[in-house]
Amino acid sequence: MKRIFLIGFMGAGKTSVGVCLSKNMGLTFVDLDHYIESRYLKSVQQLFTEKGEPGFREIEQKMLREVATFEDVIISTGGGTPCFFDNMEFMKAHGTTVYLKVSVPELTNRLEICKGTRPLLKDKNKEELMDYIRETLLKRKNNYEQADVVFEAEAMETDTDVLSIANALEKILHYGSDRR
Ligand code: S3P
Repeated sequence: MKRIFLIGFMGAGKTSVGVCLSKNMGLTFVDLDHYIESRYLKSVQQLFTEKGEPGFREIEQKMLREVATFEDVIISTGGGTPCFFDNMEFMKAHGTTVYLKVSVPELTNRLEICKGTRPLLKDKNKEELMDYIRETLLKRKNNYEQADVVFEAEAMETDTDVLSIANALEKILHYGSDRR
């Protein structure tokens, strides 16, 4: 039985890589944010507005426990998931955790384009966005780096890049790694 948790900052490519990797490995793909939205019939954005971030984190923690009962699955988590409650410890106990590591400038470029759908980013200009990413990544780094596999996912412009990252990860997940 395989259960893989993909973790990393917003924009790290967890969903793109997860979809591709799940096809390669013949596993089911679950995106935690989408799962939350389908269970609560509300967008993540709406949940943030109605319940505030603390309320969203409670829901996220609960839904993480629900998806972690699924088997033969790749679960793409939200950027904050490993950094609240004992979620990181929980994921490590229930599967293999993979951190997609991307630098601050690269995350800024990626998120500048699609920040509108993310409640924590949508009102920031480029400079504020970069500052926010730098500060938040610094706070989250320790949690992310506890992952069983830390994978540099800096180059992810084309579908071919996504495929080669998924192929490399598949090998590591099949044959093990020395973490980096
Ligand atoms: C968040 C990341 C988002 C989503 C929510 C909060 C975060 O998921 O869970 O907006 O705190 O980093 P993605 O990483 O999939 O964008």
